[in-house]
Amino acid sequence: MMQVQEPRIIIALDFKDEASTLVLVDQLKPELCRLKVGKELFVRCGPSLVKKLHNRGFDVFLDLKFHDIPNTVAAACQAAADMGVWMVNVHASGGRKMMEFAREAIEKSAHKPLLIGVTVLTSLSRQDIAEIGLNIEPADQVSRLAKLAKDSGLDGVVCSPLEVSDLKQQLGQEFCLVTPGVRPVGAAIGDQQRVMTPAEALSAGSDYLVIGRPITANSDPIQALNDIIAQC
Ligand code: C5P
Repeated sequence: MMQVQEPRIIIALDFKDEASTLVLVDQLKPELCRLKVGKELFVRCGPSLVKKLHNRGFDVFLDLKFHDIPNTVAAACQAAADMGVWMVNVHASGGRKMMEFAREAIEKSAHKPLLIGVTVLTSLSRQDIAEIGLNIEPADQVSRLAKLAKDSGLDGVVCSPLEVSDLKQQLGQEFCLVTPGVRPVGAAIGDQQRVMTPAEALSAGSDYLVIGRPITANSDPIQALNDIIAQC
């Protein structure tokens, strides 16, 4: 069973306010899942909500995808580390120096979150990346940026479950792969394009599964989470 060692499901808390977030969180157990706070929730509720999640015993993935000059990103990563989050991420396309500065900032912190890179947003097509000047297949750009992220000292990358087995082969088993685009058997696909089931993603080598609406939009989110765990 996947949950024996540590929870590998990260629930994306894509809620608009603290009250609705905590209605769900107060039904969850930190032994069974981790929590992801993204841009909307963080902009609305800020560090005080993260503190409330920590006080309830949860590990938090702060999904703010930092991308700026190296000093600024390093300072933001330091602030995230000081907040005590478990995982934080930066855009790998910010370049080697930016990622190395982020790594150094985290290494200097008393608490060291996992530092994860975002490669190519899954919302971008071949044509979209050509339009910003990259004449390359998205999969090749993912592979290039994941390698750069590893060389720059990052702990892993966010990727599609379909990219997991190639990236593990190229970058080694220890390089952490975090995968959204996961849908339990029978769940609505919604706006995700290329999906795998949780069991398929884990057996391909995914380390952590980011799952939002199949749990958060379910009329019985706890049953939905338990069903996913049982499928794994
Ligand atoms: O509801 P759903 O399971 O689609 O939520 C997936 C979560 O993962 C969302 O918070 C979304 O922003 C995030 N995400 C994603 N695809 C990426 C990166 C992050 O779906 N490539």
